[in-house]
Amino acid sequence: MRRSIIIGLAVVLAGCSAPSAPKTEALPKDFALRSAAITLPADQVSLPPAAEIVTINCTACHSPEMILSQPVLDAATWQKEIDKMRTAYRASIDPKDDAALVAALIKMQQTPTTPN
Ligand code: HEC
Repeated sequence: MRRSIIIGLAVVLAGCSAPSAPKTEALPKDFALRSAAITLPADQVSLPPAAEIVTINCTACHSPEMILSQPVLDAATWQKEIDKMRTAYRASIDPKDDAALVAALIKMQQTPTTPN
């Protein structure tokens, strides 16, 4: 298993070199893939429960803080943002959810949030 990963990586790395002269050098004998732990910062705020549809559709890519720090936008502008997320960034937002999302985003901006 580990051997096939290393061979696979060698093939991938060989593919990265100049197309005319592919390198077939072996990886160093002590080469190994290792796991590393990282600690992500805790979110300072959560979206309110009433805005669950925003949590579901937006927080895969954005922190709650980022969503909450946007300028107050009207419905048409939020709709344009949602369209942009879908077309420019390939967000899988179901168009059937658009109206509920816009309403939740507007309501959320009118509601003060409490820190976690
Ligand atoms: C597939 C990932 C993805 C999803 C899901 C997503 N966005 Fe984005 N969004 C991005 C990227 C990438 C950018 C551009 C970089 C940045 O500003 O973070 C962006 C930028 C933004 C911006 C900054 C202004 C702009 O137009 O660039 C806003 C506001 C925003 N998103 C709101 C939302 C909202 C609201 C949702 C949920 C309805 C959402 N996003 C869902 C990827 C996503």
